Amino acid sequence: MSAYEIVHHEYDAVVVGAGGAGLRATLGLAETGLKTANITKVFPTRSHTVAAQGGISAALANMGRDDWRWHFYDTVKGSDWLGDQDAIQYMTREAIPAIIELEHYGVPFSRTPEGKIYQRPFGGMTTEFGKGPPAQRTCAAADRTGHAMLHTLYQQSLKCKAQFFIEYFALDLLMDEDGSCKGVLAWDLATGQLHRFRAHMVILATGGYGRAFFSATSAHTCTGDGNAMVLRAGLPLQDLEFVQFHPTGIYGSGCLITEGARGEGGYLTNAKGERFMERYAPSVKDLAPRDMVSRAMSTEIREGRGVGSEKDHIHLHLEHLGPDVLHKRLPGITESAKIFAGVDATKEPIPVVPTVHYNMGGIPTLYTGEAVTLKNGNPDAVVPGLMAVGEAACVSVHGANRLGSNSLLDLVVFGRAAALRTAELIKPATPHKKIPGASEEQSLARLDRLRNAKGKAPTATIRLAMQKTMQKHCAVFRDGPLMQEGIQELKGVIDEFTNDLGVTDRSLVWNSDLVESLELDNLLGQALITIVCAENRKESRGAHARDDIKDRDDRNWLKHTIAWRTGAKDVKIDFRPVHMNPLDAEVDHIPPVARKY
Ligand code: FUM
Repeated sequence: MSAYEIVHHEYDAVVVGAGGAGLRATLGLAETGLKTANITKVFPTRSHTVAAQGGISAALANMGRDDWRWHFYDTVKGSDWLGDQDAIQYMTREAIPAIIELEHYGVPFSRTPEGKIYQRPFGGMTTEFGKGPPAQRTCAAADRTGHAMLHTLYQQSLKCKAQFFIEYFALDLLMDEDGSCKGVLAWDLATGQLHRFRAHMVILATGGYGRAFFSATSAHTCTGDGNAMVLRAGLPLQDLEFVQFHPTGIYGSGCLITEGARGEGGYLTNAKGERFMERYAPSVKDLAPRDMVSRAMSTEIREGRGVGSEKDHIHLHLEHLGPDVLHKRLPGITESAKIFAGVDATKEPIPVVPTVHYNMGGIPTLYTGEAVTLKNGNPDAVVPGLMAVGEAACVSVHGANRLGSNSLLDLVVFGRAAALRTAELIKPATPHKKIPGASEEQSLARLDRLRNAKGKAPTATIRLAMQKTMQKHCAVFRDGPLMQEGIQELKGVIDEFTNDLGVTDRSLVWNSDLVESLELDNLLGQALITIVCAENRKESRGAHARDDIKDRDDRNWLKHTIAWRTGAKDVKIDFRPVHMNPLDAEVDHIPPVARKY
Protein backbone atom coordinates (compact mmCIF):
# COMPACT_ATOMS: atom_id res chain seq x y z
CA MET A 1 0.00 0.00 0.00
CA SER A 2 1.53 3.29 -1.10
CA ALA A 3 1.99 6.38 1.06
CA TYR A 4 0.70 8.57 -1.76
CA GLU A 5 -2.93 9.67 -1.91
CA ILE A 6 -4.30 9.57 -5.42
CA VAL A 7 -7.18 11.53 -6.93
CA HIS A 8 -9.24 9.24 -9.19
CA HIS A 9 -10.74 10.37 -12.55
CA GLU A 10 -12.70 8.49 -15.21
CA TYR A 11 -12.77 9.52 -18.88
CA ASP A 12 -13.63 7.90 -22.19
CA ALA A 13 -10.30 9.02 -23.58
CA VAL A 14 -7.17 10.73 -22.33
CA VAL A 15 -4.61 12.50 -24.49
CA VAL A 16 -1.15 13.10 -23.06
CA GLY A 17 0.53 16.15 -24.58
CA ALA A 18 -0.88 19.38 -26.01
CA GLY A 19 1.31 20.08 -29.03
CA GLY A 20 -0.16 20.01 -32.54
CA ALA A 21 -0.92 16.26 -32.54
CA GLY A 22 -2.30 16.17 -28.99
CA LEU A 23 -4.52 19.18 -29.58
CA ARG A 24 -5.80 17.88 -32.92
CA ALA A 25 -6.66 14.54 -31.28
CA THR A 26 -8.26 16.29 -28.29
CA LEU A 27 -10.34 18.50 -30.54
CA GLY A 28 -11.47 15.52 -32.63
CA LEU A 29 -12.47 13.53 -29.56
CA ALA A 30 -14.29 16.44 -27.94
CA GLU A 31 -16.18 17.06 -31.21
CA THR A 32 -17.52 13.49 -31.13
CA GLY A 33 -18.88 13.89 -27.60
CA LEU A 34 -16.42 11.51 -25.92
CA LYS A 35 -15.50 12.65 -22.41
CA THR A 36 -11.91 13.69 -23.00
CA ALA A 37 -9.08 14.90 -20.81
CA ASN A 38 -5.81 16.36 -22.02
CA ILE A 39 -2.85 16.08 -19.65
CA THR A 40 0.10 18.33 -20.47
CA LYS A 41 3.32 19.14 -18.65
CA VAL A 42 3.51 22.65 -20.18
CA PHE A 43 0.81 25.17 -20.99
CA PRO A 44 -0.61 24.07 -24.39
CA THR A 45 0.59 27.09 -26.35
CA ARG A 46 4.11 26.56 -24.96
CA SER A 47 4.33 23.04 -26.41
CA HIS A 48 7.24 22.52 -28.79
CA THR A 49 5.02 22.79 -31.90
CA VAL A 50 5.15 26.53 -31.19
CA ALA A 51 8.73 26.48 -32.47
CA ALA A 52 7.86 24.98 -35.87
CA GLN A 53 8.64 27.66 -38.41
CA GLY A 54 8.63 26.99 -42.13
CA GLY A 55 5.28 25.35 -42.76
CA ILE A 56 3.02 22.41 -43.42
CA SER A 57 3.02 20.48 -46.69
CA ALA A 58 0.01 19.77 -48.92
CA ALA A 59 -0.30 19.60 -52.69
CA LEU A 60 -2.79 22.50 -52.92
CA ALA A 61 -1.21 23.72 -56.18
CA ASN A 62 -1.80 27.35 -55.17
CA MET A 63 1.53 28.50 -56.60
CA GLY A 64 2.29 26.08 -59.39
CA ARG A 65 1.30 22.62 -60.61
CA ASP A 66 1.08 19.96 -57.94
CA ASP A 67 -0.50 16.59 -57.19
CA TRP A 68 -0.74 14.67 -53.91
CA ARG A 69 0.64 11.59 -55.75
CA TRP A 70 3.88 13.53 -56.34
CA HIS A 71 3.90 14.35 -52.62
CA PHE A 72 3.42 10.62 -51.94
CA TYR A 73 6.35 9.75 -54.23
CA ASP A 74 8.64 12.41 -52.66
CA THR A 75 7.84 11.20 -49.15
CA VAL A 76 8.57 7.54 -50.00
CA LYS A 77 11.85 8.52 -51.66
CA GLY A 78 12.68 10.98 -48.85
CA SER A 79 12.20 8.16 -46.33
CA ASP A 80 14.85 6.14 -48.22
CA TRP A 81 12.11 3.52 -48.67
CA LEU A 82 11.76 2.78 -44.95
CA GLY A 83 8.41 4.62 -44.76
CA ASP A 84 5.19 2.57 -44.77
CA GLN A 85 3.51 3.29 -48.10
CA ASP A 86 -0.06 2.78 -46.83
CA ALA A 87 0.45 5.43 -44.14
CA ILE A 88 2.25 7.76 -46.57
CA GLN A 89 -0.64 7.51 -49.02
CA TYR A 90 -3.09 8.27 -46.22
CA MET A 91 -1.09 11.30 -45.06
CA THR A 92 -0.41 12.90 -48.44
CA ARG A 93 -3.98 12.40 -49.70
CA GLU A 94 -5.52 13.69 -46.45
CA ALA A 95 -3.13 16.66 -46.46
CA ILE A 96 -5.35 18.73 -48.74
CA PRO A 97 -8.60 18.54 -46.69
CA ALA A 98 -6.53 18.84 -43.49
CA ILE A 99 -5.12 22.22 -44.55
CA ILE A 100 -8.51 23.51 -45.68
CA GLU A 101 -9.89 22.42 -42.33
CA LEU A 102 -7.10 24.33 -40.52
CA GLU A 103 -7.88 27.38 -42.63
CA HIS A 104 -11.53 27.11 -41.60
CA TYR A 105 -10.56 26.68 -37.95
CA GLY A 106 -8.82 30.05 -38.29
CA VAL A 107 -5.09 29.47 -38.85
CA PRO A 108 -3.78 32.83 -40.16
CA PHE A 109 -1.81 31.56 -43.17
CA SER A 110 0.21 33.99 -45.28
CA ARG A 111 -1.56 34.79 -48.57
CA THR A 112 -0.80 35.14 -52.27
CA PRO A 113 -1.93 38.37 -53.97
CA GLU A 114 -5.16 36.55 -55.00
CA GLY A 115 -5.82 35.56 -51.39
CA LYS A 116 -4.84 31.88 -51.60
CA ILE A 117 -2.71 30.17 -48.95
CA TYR A 118 0.96 31.04 -49.61
CA GLN A 119 3.23 28.04 -50.36
CA ARG A 120 7.04 27.88 -50.49
CA PRO A 121 9.48 25.23 -51.74
CA PHE A 122 11.03 22.85 -49.17
CA GLY A 123 13.77 20.22 -49.44
CA GLY A 124 12.98 17.05 -51.37
CA MET A 125 9.54 18.30 -52.51
CA THR A 126 9.40 17.95 -56.31
CA THR A 127 6.94 17.59 -59.19
CA GLU A 128 6.30 14.88 -61.81
CA PHE A 129 7.46 12.01 -59.56
CA GLY A 130 10.87 13.58 -59.03
CA LYS A 131 11.41 14.47 -62.69
CA GLY A 132 10.02 18.02 -62.63
CA PRO A 133 11.18 21.22 -60.91
CA PRO A 134 10.83 21.76 -57.12
CA ALA A 135 7.23 21.98 -55.87
CA GLN A 136 5.90 24.98 -53.94
CA ARG A 137 4.03 22.78 -51.48
CA THR A 138 4.72 24.11 -47.98
CA CYS A 139 1.87 26.24 -46.62
CA ALA A 140 3.20 28.94 -44.33
CA ALA A 141 2.19 31.55 -41.81
CA ALA A 142 5.38 33.63 -42.35
CA ASP A 143 7.99 31.66 -40.34
CA ARG A 144 5.70 31.09 -37.37
CA THR A 145 3.44 28.37 -38.75
CA GLY A 146 3.55 26.09 -35.69
CA HIS A 147 2.74 29.04 -33.43
CA ALA A 148 -0.28 29.94 -35.56
CA MET A 149 -1.54 26.35 -35.63
CA LEU A 150 -1.08 25.73 -31.93
CA HIS A 151 -3.04 28.80 -30.86
CA THR A 152 -5.86 27.98 -33.27
CA LEU A 153 -6.12 24.33 -32.21
CA TYR A 154 -6.09 25.24 -28.52
CA GLN A 155 -8.86 27.79 -29.01
CA GLN A 156 -10.94 25.28 -30.99
CA SER A 157 -10.43 22.61 -28.28
CA LEU A 158 -11.63 25.03 -25.61
CA LYS A 159 -14.63 25.87 -27.75
CA CYS A 160 -15.52 22.13 -27.82
CA LYS A 161 -15.19 21.96 -24.02
CA ALA A 162 -12.23 19.57 -23.86
CA GLN A 163 -10.88 19.42 -20.31
CA PHE A 164 -7.22 20.33 -19.79
CA PHE A 165 -5.00 19.30 -16.89
CA ILE A 166 -2.18 21.77 -17.35
CA GLU A 167 1.30 21.35 -15.83
CA TYR A 168 0.53 17.74 -14.97
CA PHE A 169 3.51 15.44 -15.57
CA ALA A 170 2.46 11.98 -16.82
CA LEU A 171 4.41 9.32 -14.95
CA ASP A 172 3.29 5.96 -16.34
CA LEU A 173 0.71 3.99 -18.26
CA LEU A 174 -1.67 1.89 -16.19
CA MET A 175 -1.71 -1.56 -17.78
CA ASP A 176 -3.78 -4.60 -16.94
CA GLU A 177 -2.40 -8.13 -16.83
CA ASP A 178 -3.24 -8.96 -20.44
CA GLY A 179 -1.32 -5.97 -21.78
CA SER A 180 -4.18 -3.52 -22.37
CA CYS A 181 -3.74 0.11 -21.46
CA LYS A 182 -6.31 1.37 -18.96
CA GLY A 183 -5.14 4.84 -18.06
CA VAL A 184 -2.32 7.08 -16.89
CA LEU A 185 -0.83 8.14 -13.59
CA ALA A 186 0.12 11.83 -13.44
CA TRP A 187 1.62 14.33 -11.00
CA ASP A 188 0.15 17.82 -10.63
CA LEU A 189 3.29 19.93 -10.46
CA ALA A 190 1.59 22.90 -8.79
CA THR A 191 -0.09 21.13 -5.87
CA GLY A 192 2.03 17.98 -5.61
CA GLN A 193 -1.09 15.81 -5.81
CA LEU A 194 -1.04 12.54 -7.78
CA HIS A 195 -3.90 11.73 -10.18
CA ARG A 196 -5.07 8.46 -11.70
CA PHE A 197 -6.84 8.91 -15.05
CA ARG A 198 -8.77 5.81 -16.07
CA ALA A 199 -9.60 5.81 -19.79
CA HIS A 200 -10.66 3.37 -22.49
CA MET A 201 -8.16 5.00 -24.83
CA VAL A 202 -4.88 6.70 -23.99
CA ILE A 203 -3.35 8.71 -26.84
CA LEU A 204 0.30 9.59 -26.35
CA ALA A 205 1.27 12.85 -28.06
CA THR A 206 4.37 13.54 -26.02
CA GLY A 207 6.81 14.53 -28.80
CA GLY A 208 10.39 13.55 -29.42
CA TYR A 209 13.50 13.18 -27.26
CA GLY A 210 15.89 15.62 -28.91
CA ARG A 211 17.33 16.53 -25.52
CA ALA A 212 19.21 13.22 -25.40
CA PHE A 213 21.76 15.12 -27.53
CA PHE A 214 23.96 18.10 -26.64
CA SER A 215 22.93 20.39 -29.48
CA ALA A 216 19.26 20.31 -30.47
CA THR A 217 16.62 22.64 -31.86
CA SER A 218 14.18 20.90 -29.48
CA ALA A 219 12.89 22.61 -26.35
CA HIS A 220 14.28 21.46 -23.01
CA THR A 221 10.92 19.78 -22.44
CA CYS A 222 11.48 17.35 -25.36
CA THR A 223 12.36 14.33 -23.26
CA GLY A 224 10.21 11.64 -24.92
CA ASP A 225 8.16 11.00 -21.79
CA GLY A 226 5.52 8.93 -23.63
CA ASN A 227 8.15 6.80 -25.35
CA ALA A 228 9.72 6.06 -21.99
CA MET A 229 6.32 5.16 -20.48
CA VAL A 230 5.87 2.68 -23.33
CA LEU A 231 9.27 1.10 -22.62
CA ARG A 232 8.44 0.77 -18.91
CA ALA A 233 5.15 -0.92 -19.89
CA GLY A 234 7.23 -3.63 -21.58
CA LEU A 235 6.41 -2.49 -25.12
CA PRO A 236 8.89 -1.73 -27.92
CA LEU A 237 9.94 1.44 -29.72
CA GLN A 238 10.67 1.47 -33.43
CA ASP A 239 13.51 2.84 -35.62
CA LEU A 240 15.15 4.98 -32.93
CA GLU A 241 18.46 4.86 -34.81
CA PHE A 242 17.07 7.42 -37.27
CA VAL A 243 17.72 10.87 -35.78
CA GLN A 244 17.33 13.92 -38.01
CA PHE A 245 19.93 16.69 -37.97
CA HIS A 246 18.49 19.95 -39.30
CA PRO A 247 21.13 21.60 -41.49
CA THR A 248 20.62 25.08 -40.11
CA GLY A 249 20.77 25.29 -36.34
CA ILE A 250 22.40 28.57 -35.24
CA TYR A 251 26.07 27.87 -34.45
CA GLY A 252 26.44 27.86 -30.65
CA SER A 253 22.84 28.04 -29.45
CA GLY A 254 21.30 25.40 -31.75
CA CYS A 255 18.21 27.58 -32.38
CA LEU A 256 16.35 26.69 -35.56
CA ILE A 257 16.73 28.72 -38.75
CA THR A 258 13.92 27.42 -40.92
CA GLU A 259 14.50 25.47 -44.11
CA GLY A 260 12.00 28.01 -45.45
CA ALA A 261 15.00 30.38 -45.56
CA ARG A 262 16.46 28.23 -48.34
CA GLY A 263 12.95 27.82 -49.77
CA GLU A 264 12.84 31.62 -50.19
CA GLY A 265 16.19 31.56 -52.02
CA GLY A 266 18.83 31.39 -49.25
CA TYR A 267 21.99 29.34 -49.88
CA LEU A 268 24.95 27.85 -48.03
CA THR A 269 28.65 28.57 -48.57
CA ASN A 270 31.93 27.18 -47.21
CA ALA A 271 35.14 29.03 -46.26
CA LYS A 272 36.05 29.44 -49.93
CA GLY A 273 32.71 31.10 -50.60
CA GLU A 274 31.63 28.10 -52.71
CA ARG A 275 27.97 27.10 -53.02
CA PHE A 276 29.01 23.54 -52.27
CA MET A 277 25.52 21.99 -52.50
CA GLU A 278 25.92 22.21 -56.29
CA ARG A 279 28.45 19.40 -55.99
CA TYR A 280 26.37 17.16 -53.70
CA ALA A 281 22.88 17.51 -55.20
CA PRO A 282 23.25 19.05 -58.65
CA SER A 283 19.55 19.16 -59.49
CA VAL A 284 18.03 20.53 -56.26
CA LYS A 285 21.16 22.00 -54.61
CA ASP A 286 20.31 23.75 -51.30
CA LEU A 287 16.82 22.24 -51.45
CA ALA A 288 18.06 18.66 -51.11
CA PRO A 289 16.55 16.66 -48.23
CA ARG A 290 17.92 17.35 -44.76
CA ASP A 291 20.01 14.20 -44.36
CA MET A 292 21.94 15.04 -47.54
CA VAL A 293 22.45 18.72 -46.74
CA SER A 294 23.61 17.90 -43.19
CA ARG A 295 26.09 15.33 -44.53
CA ALA A 296 27.37 17.77 -47.15
CA MET A 297 27.91 20.46 -44.50
CA SER A 298 29.64 18.00 -42.15
CA THR A 299 31.88 16.83 -45.01
CA GLU A 300 32.87 20.41 -45.85
CA ILE A 301 33.74 20.98 -42.19
CA ARG A 302 35.62 17.67 -41.87
CA GLU A 303 37.65 18.44 -44.97
CA GLY A 304 38.77 21.81 -43.61
CA ARG A 305 36.40 24.08 -45.53
CA GLY A 306 34.29 25.18 -42.56
CA VAL A 307 34.05 28.90 -41.73
CA GLY A 308 35.09 30.77 -38.57
CA SER A 309 38.31 30.68 -36.57
CA GLU A 310 37.77 27.01 -35.77
CA LYS A 311 36.50 26.17 -39.28
CA ASP A 312 33.60 24.37 -37.62
CA HIS A 313 30.47 25.83 -39.18
CA ILE A 314 28.93 27.05 -42.45
CA HIS A 315 27.41 30.31 -43.71
CA LEU A 316 23.74 30.69 -44.65
CA HIS A 317 23.18 33.69 -46.93
CA LEU A 318 19.91 35.63 -46.94
CA GLU A 319 21.33 39.15 -47.52
CA HIS A 320 20.53 39.04 -51.24
CA LEU A 321 16.80 38.49 -50.53
CA GLY A 322 16.51 42.07 -49.28
CA PRO A 323 14.89 43.50 -46.13
CA ASP A 324 11.36 43.42 -47.59
CA VAL A 325 11.32 39.65 -48.16
CA LEU A 326 13.00 39.00 -44.81
CA HIS A 327 10.50 41.21 -43.02
CA LYS A 328 7.46 39.71 -44.74
CA ARG A 329 8.40 36.04 -45.05
CA LEU A 330 11.11 35.39 -42.46
CA PRO A 331 10.67 37.87 -39.59
CA GLY A 332 11.15 35.30 -36.80
CA ILE A 333 14.48 33.95 -37.97
CA THR A 334 15.77 37.44 -38.75
CA GLU A 335 15.14 38.22 -35.08
CA SER A 336 16.66 34.88 -33.91
CA ALA A 337 19.81 35.57 -35.97
CA LYS A 338 20.18 38.93 -34.24
CA ILE A 339 19.56 37.59 -30.73
CA PHE A 340 21.41 34.27 -30.89
CA ALA A 341 24.19 34.96 -33.41
CA GLY A 342 24.51 38.74 -33.20
CA VAL A 343 24.04 38.91 -36.97
CA ASP A 344 21.96 41.30 -39.08
CA ALA A 345 20.63 38.83 -41.67
CA THR A 346 19.85 41.65 -44.10
CA LYS A 347 23.59 42.40 -44.32
CA GLU A 348 25.64 39.34 -43.36
CA PRO A 349 25.46 35.53 -43.44
CA ILE A 350 24.16 33.51 -40.48
CA PRO A 351 26.58 30.97 -38.92
CA VAL A 352 24.88 27.56 -38.93
CA VAL A 353 25.67 23.93 -38.19
CA PRO A 354 23.65 20.65 -38.41
CA THR A 355 21.72 20.26 -35.16
CA VAL A 356 19.48 17.46 -33.83
CA HIS A 357 15.91 18.32 -34.81
CA TYR A 358 13.59 15.32 -35.06
CA ASN A 359 13.20 11.66 -34.15
CA MET A 360 11.91 9.57 -37.03
CA GLY A 361 11.54 6.66 -34.59
CA GLY A 362 9.02 6.28 -31.79
CA ILE A 363 6.04 4.19 -30.73
CA PRO A 364 5.10 1.85 -33.61
CA THR A 365 1.56 2.53 -34.83
CA LEU A 366 -0.80 1.85 -37.70
CA TYR A 367 -2.09 4.81 -39.73
CA THR A 368 -5.17 4.77 -37.48
CA GLY A 369 -2.97 5.79 -34.54
CA GLU A 370 -3.27 2.39 -32.82
CA ALA A 371 -0.05 1.31 -31.11
CA VAL A 372 1.28 -2.06 -32.22
CA THR A 373 3.78 -4.61 -31.04
CA LEU A 374 5.21 -7.90 -32.24
CA LYS A 375 3.16 -10.67 -30.61
CA ASN A 376 2.98 -14.40 -31.41
CA GLY A 377 4.57 -13.73 -34.80
CA ASN A 378 2.10 -10.92 -35.66
CA PRO A 379 4.11 -7.73 -36.37
CA ASP A 380 0.98 -5.56 -36.32
CA ALA A 381 -0.58 -6.76 -33.06
CA VAL A 382 -2.64 -3.84 -31.71
CA VAL A 383 -2.09 -2.86 -28.07
CA PRO A 384 -5.67 -2.40 -26.82
CA GLY A 385 -6.36 1.01 -25.30
CA LEU A 386 -3.17 2.68 -26.56
CA MET A 387 -2.46 5.06 -29.43
CA ALA A 388 0.38 7.40 -30.30
CA VAL A 389 0.49 10.42 -32.61
CA GLY A 390 2.95 13.08 -33.70
CA GLU A 391 6.69 12.83 -33.12
CA ALA A 392 6.13 10.29 -30.33
CA ALA A 393 4.76 7.89 -32.92
CA CYS A 394 6.51 5.97 -35.67
CA VAL A 395 3.61 5.44 -38.11
CA SER A 396 6.00 5.22 -40.10
CA VAL A 397 5.55 8.03 -42.62
CA HIS A 398 9.07 9.41 -42.38
CA GLY A 399 11.04 6.17 -42.50
CA ALA A 400 14.77 6.86 -42.38
CA ASN A 401 14.54 10.59 -43.12
CA ARG A 402 11.68 13.08 -42.77
CA LEU A 403 11.08 15.78 -45.35
CA GLY A 404 10.74 19.28 -43.92
CA SER A 405 7.10 20.38 -43.42
CA ASN A 406 5.83 16.79 -43.31
CA SER A 407 5.92 16.93 -39.51
CA LEU A 408 3.21 19.56 -38.97
CA LEU A 409 1.21 17.59 -41.51
CA ASP A 410 1.74 14.30 -39.66
CA LEU A 411 0.50 15.99 -36.45
CA VAL A 412 -2.84 17.09 -37.80
CA VAL A 413 -3.56 14.13 -40.10
CA PHE A 414 -2.82 11.46 -37.52
CA GLY A 415 -4.18 13.46 -34.56
CA ARG A 416 -7.47 13.53 -36.47
CA ALA A 417 -7.19 9.86 -37.52
CA ALA A 418 -6.67 8.76 -33.90
CA ALA A 419 -9.76 10.67 -32.78
CA LEU A 420 -11.85 9.13 -35.58
CA ARG A 421 -10.67 5.61 -34.77
CA THR A 422 -11.29 6.11 -31.04
CA ALA A 423 -14.84 7.23 -31.79
CA GLU A 424 -15.33 3.97 -33.73
CA LEU A 425 -13.96 1.84 -30.89
CA ILE A 426 -15.34 3.50 -27.73
CA LYS A 427 -18.96 4.05 -26.77
CA PRO A 428 -19.30 7.19 -24.61
CA ALA A 429 -19.60 6.53 -20.86
CA THR A 430 -18.69 2.81 -21.04
CA PRO A 431 -18.06 1.81 -17.38
CA HIS A 432 -14.47 1.13 -16.23
CA LYS A 433 -13.62 -2.27 -14.73
CA LYS A 434 -11.28 -2.65 -11.77
CA ILE A 435 -7.67 -3.33 -12.77
CA PRO A 436 -4.76 -4.78 -10.79
CA GLY A 437 -2.59 -2.10 -9.18
CA ALA A 438 0.83 -3.52 -10.14
CA SER A 439 1.79 -0.89 -12.74
CA GLU A 440 0.67 1.92 -10.43
CA GLU A 441 2.75 0.53 -7.56
CA GLN A 442 5.82 0.20 -9.77
CA SER A 443 5.39 3.77 -10.94
CA LEU A 444 5.08 5.08 -7.39
CA ALA A 445 8.14 3.08 -6.33
CA ARG A 446 10.15 4.73 -9.13
CA LEU A 447 8.90 8.17 -8.15
CA ASP A 448 9.82 7.51 -4.54
CA ARG A 449 13.27 6.17 -5.43
CA LEU A 450 14.21 9.22 -7.48
CA ARG A 451 12.62 11.66 -5.03
CA ASN A 452 14.77 10.24 -2.25
CA ALA A 453 17.98 9.66 -4.24
CA LYS A 454 20.85 10.56 -1.95
CA GLY A 455 23.93 10.16 -4.17
CA LYS A 456 26.55 12.76 -5.07
CA ALA A 457 25.88 13.32 -8.78
CA PRO A 458 23.45 16.12 -9.68
CA THR A 459 20.96 15.47 -12.49
CA ALA A 460 22.51 18.22 -14.65
CA THR A 461 25.96 16.58 -14.53
CA ILE A 462 24.66 13.14 -15.53
CA ARG A 463 22.48 14.65 -18.26
CA LEU A 464 25.44 16.52 -19.74
CA ALA A 465 27.50 13.33 -19.81
CA MET A 466 24.68 11.54 -21.69
CA GLN A 467 24.25 14.43 -24.15
CA LYS A 468 27.99 14.67 -24.90
CA THR A 469 28.21 10.91 -25.40
CA MET A 470 25.34 10.88 -27.88
CA GLN A 471 26.63 13.93 -29.75
CA LYS A 472 30.10 12.45 -30.12
CA HIS A 473 29.25 8.82 -30.79
CA CYS A 474 25.93 8.88 -32.67
CA ALA A 475 25.87 12.04 -34.81
CA VAL A 476 25.57 12.83 -38.55
CA PHE A 477 28.31 10.34 -39.45
CA ARG A 478 28.63 7.14 -37.46
CA ASP A 479 30.93 4.15 -37.44
CA GLY A 480 31.03 0.79 -35.68
CA PRO A 481 33.95 1.24 -33.24
CA LEU A 482 32.88 4.80 -32.33
CA MET A 483 29.34 3.60 -31.54
CA GLN A 484 30.61 0.58 -29.57
CA GLU A 485 32.72 2.94 -27.47
CA GLY A 486 29.66 5.19 -27.06
CA ILE A 487 27.52 2.30 -25.85
CA GLN A 488 30.05 1.48 -23.11
CA GLU A 489 30.30 5.14 -22.15
CA LEU A 490 26.51 5.48 -21.99
CA LYS A 491 26.23 2.37 -19.83
CA GLY A 492 28.65 4.08 -17.42
CA VAL A 493 26.34 7.11 -17.37
CA ILE A 494 23.35 4.84 -16.62
CA ASP A 495 25.34 3.25 -13.76
CA GLU A 496 26.00 6.68 -12.32
CA PHE A 497 22.30 7.57 -12.59
CA THR A 498 21.28 4.28 -10.92
CA ASN A 499 23.86 4.34 -8.13
CA ASP A 500 24.87 7.91 -7.46
CA LEU A 501 22.06 10.32 -8.44
CA GLY A 502 21.46 13.05 -5.88
CA VAL A 503 18.11 14.86 -5.71
CA THR A 504 18.11 17.60 -3.10
CA ASP A 505 14.47 18.73 -3.03
CA ARG A 506 12.11 16.14 -1.46
CA SER A 507 8.85 18.08 -1.83
CA LEU A 508 6.21 17.41 -4.46
CA VAL A 509 5.33 21.05 -5.14
CA TRP A 510 7.15 22.61 -8.08
CA ASN A 511 10.08 20.26 -7.59
CA SER A 512 11.99 20.95 -10.79
CA ASP A 513 14.93 18.87 -9.54
CA LEU A 514 12.67 15.81 -9.43
CA VAL A 515 10.98 16.66 -12.77
CA GLU A 516 14.38 16.86 -14.47
CA SER A 517 15.48 13.58 -12.86
CA LEU A 518 12.35 11.80 -14.09
CA GLU A 519 12.94 13.31 -17.53
CA LEU A 520 16.57 12.21 -17.48
CA ASP A 521 15.48 8.68 -16.59
CA ASN A 522 13.19 8.85 -19.64
CA LEU A 523 15.96 10.14 -21.88
CA LEU A 524 18.52 7.56 -20.81
CA GLY A 525 16.44 4.60 -22.00
CA GLN A 526 15.85 6.22 -25.40
CA ALA A 527 19.51 7.23 -25.76
CA LEU A 528 20.54 3.65 -25.06
CA ILE A 529 18.13 2.18 -27.59
CA THR A 530 19.15 4.79 -30.18
CA ILE A 531 22.84 4.01 -30.07
CA VAL A 532 22.45 0.23 -29.67
CA CYS A 533 20.10 0.06 -32.68
CA ALA A 534 22.36 2.38 -34.69
CA GLU A 535 25.32 0.09 -34.05
CA ASN A 536 23.18 -2.90 -34.91
CA ARG A 537 21.98 -1.57 -38.31
CA LYS A 538 24.76 -2.61 -40.67
CA GLU A 539 23.99 -0.26 -43.56
CA SER A 540 23.60 3.43 -44.36
CA ARG A 541 20.05 4.64 -45.01
CA GLY A 542 18.56 8.14 -44.72
CA ALA A 543 19.77 9.88 -41.60
CA HIS A 544 21.73 6.80 -40.48
CA ALA A 545 25.04 7.31 -42.32
CA ARG A 546 27.88 4.97 -41.42
CA ASP A 547 31.45 5.72 -42.45
CA ASP A 548 32.30 2.02 -42.21
CA ILE A 549 29.30 0.71 -44.24
CA LYS A 550 28.41 3.34 -46.80
CA ASP A 551 25.72 1.60 -48.83
CA ARG A 552 22.04 0.93 -48.32
CA ASP A 553 21.38 -2.81 -48.09
CA ASP A 554 17.76 -3.55 -49.04
CA ARG A 555 18.30 -7.30 -49.04
CA ASN A 556 19.11 -7.42 -45.34
CA TRP A 557 17.90 -4.13 -43.88
CA LEU A 558 14.69 -3.02 -45.58
CA LYS A 559 12.88 -3.52 -42.26
CA HIS A 560 11.93 -1.59 -39.16
CA THR A 561 13.94 -2.15 -36.00
CA ILE A 562 11.85 -2.67 -32.88
CA ALA A 563 13.55 -2.65 -29.50
CA TRP A 564 12.59 -3.29 -25.89
CA ARG A 565 14.47 -2.12 -22.82
CA THR A 566 14.82 -5.38 -20.92
CA GLY A 567 17.01 -4.05 -18.09
CA ALA A 568 18.67 -0.75 -17.11
CA LYS A 569 21.47 -1.44 -19.63
CA ASP A 570 19.89 -4.17 -21.75
CA VAL A 571 18.14 -3.89 -25.10
CA LYS A 572 16.35 -6.65 -27.03
CA ILE A 573 16.06 -6.13 -30.79
CA ASP A 574 13.65 -7.60 -33.35
CA PHE A 575 12.16 -6.39 -36.64
CA ARG A 576 8.87 -5.53 -38.38
CA PRO A 577 8.39 -5.57 -42.14
CA VAL A 578 7.98 -2.25 -43.95
CA HIS A 579 4.46 -1.88 -45.42
CA MET A 580 5.51 -1.64 -49.06
CA ASN A 581 1.96 -1.55 -50.48
CA PRO A 582 -0.22 1.56 -50.61
CA LEU A 583 -3.77 1.56 -49.23
CA ASP A 584 -5.49 1.36 -52.61
CA ALA A 585 -5.05 1.68 -56.36
CA GLU A 586 -5.01 5.50 -56.37
CA VAL A 587 -1.21 5.28 -56.29
CA ASP A 588 1.28 2.67 -57.41
CA HIS A 589 3.74 1.09 -55.02
CA ILE A 590 7.13 2.83 -55.41
CA PRO A 591 9.86 0.18 -55.65
CA PRO A 592 13.23 1.01 -54.05
CA VAL A 593 15.90 2.50 -56.32
CA ALA A 594 19.09 4.46 -55.59
CA ARG A 595 18.16 7.77 -53.96
CA LYS A 596 19.62 10.59 -56.04
CA TYR A 597 18.66 14.26 -56.36
O1 FUM B 1 12.88 24.22 -41.11
C1 FUM B 1 11.76 24.24 -40.61
O2 FUM B 1 11.01 25.20 -40.71
C2 FUM B 1 11.29 23.04 -39.92
C3 FUM B 1 10.26 22.40 -40.41
C4 FUM B 1 10.08 20.98 -40.12
O3 FUM B 1 10.87 20.42 -39.35
O4 FUM B 1 9.19 20.35 -40.70
